[in-house]
Amino acid sequence: MSQNLSTEVVARELHGNVFLVTINNPPVNALGVDVRRGIAAAIDAAEADVAVHAVIIMGSGRNFIAGADIREFGKPPMPPALPDVCQQIEACRKPVVAAIHGAALGGGLEIALAAHYRLAATDVKFGLPEVLLGLMPGAGGTQRTPRLIGAKAALDLMLSGRHIGAGEAHKLGLVDRLGAGTDIGADGLAYAEELLAMQAPVRRSCDAAGLSDRTANQAAIEAAREQTAKTSRGLFSPLKIIEAVEVALDQPFDEGMRTERKLFLQCLESPQRAGLIHAFFAEREVLKAPETRNTQPRAITHVGIVGGGTMGAGIAVAVLDAGLPVTMIDRDAAALARGRAHVEKVYSAMVAKGRMTAAAMATTMARFAGSTTYDALAAADMVIEAVFEDMAVKKVVFAELDRVCKPGAVLATNTSYLDIDAIAASISRPADVVGLHFFSPANIMKLLEIVVPAKVSADVVATAFELAKKLRKVPVRAGVCDGFIGNRILAAYRQAADHMMEDGASPYHIDRAVRNFGYPMGPFQVSDLAGGDIGWATRKRKAATRNPEARYVQIADRICERGWFGQKTGRGYYLYPGGARTGVPDPEVEAIIDAERVRAGITPRSFTDDEIMRRYMAAMINEGANVVQQRIALRPLDVDVTFLYGYGFPRHRGGPMKYADTVGLANVLADIREFAKQDPLFWQASPLLVDLVEQGKDFASLNQSE
Ligand code: 3HC
Ligand code: NAI
Repeated sequence: MSQNLSTEVVARELHGNVFLVTINNPPVNALGVDVRRGIAAAIDAAEADVAVHAVIIMGSGRNFIAGADIREFGKPPMPPALPDVCQQIEACRKPVVAAIHGAALGGGLEIALAAHYRLAATDVKFGLPEVLLGLMPGAGGTQRTPRLIGAKAALDLMLSGRHIGAGEAHKLGLVDRLGAGTDIGADGLAYAEELLAMQAPVRRSCDAAGLSDRTANQAAIEAAREQTAKTSRGLFSPLKIIEAVEVALDQPFDEGMRTERKLFLQCLESPQRAGLIHAFFAEREVLKAPETRNTQPRAITHVGIVGGGTMGAGIAVAVLDAGLPVTMIDRDAAALARGRAHVEKVYSAMVAKGRMTAAAMATTMARFAGSTTYDALAAADMVIEAVFEDMAVKKVVFAELDRVCKPGAVLATNTSYLDIDAIAASISRPADVVGLHFFSPANIMKLLEIVVPAKVSADVVATAFELAKKLRKVPVRAGVCDGFIGNRILAAYRQAADHMMEDGASPYHIDRAVRNFGYPMGPFQVSDLAGGDIGWATRKRKAATRNPEARYVQIADRICERGWFGQKTGRGYYLYPGGARTGVPDPEVEAIIDAERVRAGITPRSFTDDEIMRRYMAAMINEGANVVQQRIALRPLDVDVTFLYGYGFPRHRGGPMKYADTVGLANVLADIREFAKQDPLFWQASPLLVDLVEQGKDFASLNQSE
């Protein structure tokens, strides 16, 4: 049967005595108000028409239904509400079959669970991912799912938000029948006719018996509560999900639905919901950089990498994982052997953990080639340079690339801070030069800053975005400046943290406050993990050009001078006895800090967690505003995505700029002006922040303007 091509949002068609209801709301058949109205009207019509003996609900296009229309959240509700539509489907006196292909997520799965029978194509993606948006299933999912498959499996779906395929859904009991072919409409019709022929009754999920074993289900609730306390600290909606399922254990269905509604509305109103939904849309918006519109990317079938150190090896793994061949170049045979060994080590560890077979590792490594001569890069479509952070060295490498690479090859640099315009200007083909700033470890970290120099051609930028997609990275477009988006802003709030440390807060207190805010680690833990020597080298390099008037905290230098570079040397800000991965406070570091305060003539004062976070965030937001104003980031949301994916910013807060809107820009500006009384050079309010406050606008207003 051909797919229903009607342009109606919810199309109806009678096939014999089966009423086919097709949702047609591209791109993903989200349950916007028109869809809800259309389904409700279709069920009414089916009930009223004696010619109708059974109903099929299905989706047109690539999916069944991806869930509630996320864009409606936070706006005034428009009836009918989704739980009422589901209730109406379930109450229908004629059998309703959900014929599902593609995504049946959130409210989409809830529609399917309200139907009386479920048929799934082999490509289905089932899930209740509301938790990832700060929500909980709000259209009966917390009540029908456990009744169908028990509390344990239901909680797993709702608390993880993971997608499951047809096989697992069938095994769990969410699906009655697996579709035979690719034509879901025809499969649905055949199934409905079969059900009618056997006079299958209306069968309601609200009456299912999955919760009959009281003890086992109660134990599942306790286990989920314990696990959530460990893994979802500070999150609001997971606890509400558990609460709703617990009600399903004891209370009648209608009571459960009332509780679900109450809790769902609480989640809807929480700032976490706003932050997580902002993150959902922002990570899709960053893909739409101007250069990618109507631009054909260049083909990439072979990638060269220059430098097999920490970054080069990590990038090689990321590229190999995407199925592409890699040729790595390093200075000499020994350095190249180390590079190759780095790559092999990553895969060997995966084999040891059982996450990869030895055969798959061999196949992957067969795509890896190494050389010490640049001529080996003659066939590469793209070369990524990851040699030492030194302009002279980079220019020599790019001269070699200019000499050997084929015309049209994309020449990328992974530099963290250097001027990519200057690198581009040093060769004969500046239009082919782009920045690809990966984060360490490059095979794990999701963020990829795509740094766009002045002379680069649009198709090179589009190719970089295409590579990000192949590598499953989250790309953010950045302009050229010292540190691009992320490291430039990092430098600002790290200084604020150093100032607070010298003024009286211990690094351990600052780290704790930052963790309590939702970060996995504080800035001093990060420094110990990354290696204090990296920042020390940068500080030394920049010493000559530093503003002599600016405040400079020397504590980090005192620690590095002792060779304490963090975890790799067994001590940094923290002590790591016996190679421990979690550090303990070091009294000697505290003594160094005390001595530095004396040297700087500072009388230490105490800080509350709130005072720490206000300064930390104000520095981050202020520099974020500068970065947007100078067009280094296209919009505030690009800053947000950078921090969510590259710097561990807590996702439920949406990113630093979204957080600023939540706090109120006027409040942030007032803080900055207050702090400026003590250090006016450091705390210079960003002109963009001042403008926005004067106009009564927020950062979100700039997200819409691109
Ligand atoms: N509402 C509104 N828009 C949505 C949407 C939704 N539920 N899901 C996706 N979209 C939009 C995206 O923003 C994107 O828009 P754009 O083209 O303007 O950027 C477009 O649809 C395509 O989305 P993707 O780029 O993500 O397409 P993919 O094919 O890669 O993925 C998907 C498809 C797997 C369905 C993915 O979009 C997805 O996971 N969507 C969210 C699903 C979800 O979270 N559902 C639960 C919603 S909450 C709910 O249902 C509450 C209920 O319990 C009451
Ligand atoms: P590294 O010191 O671990 O590795 C550098 C590699 O380049 C070494 O294998 C070295 O032998 C090789 N090399 C040096 N000169 C060369 C030349 N002329 N030709 C060929 N190979 C040469 O350095 P790392 O940490 O991998 O950094 C590389 C680049 O990535 C730098 O520009 C750095 O700023 C950037 N970067 C580093 C991050 C990190 O966390 N380490 C994060 C993001 C970017």
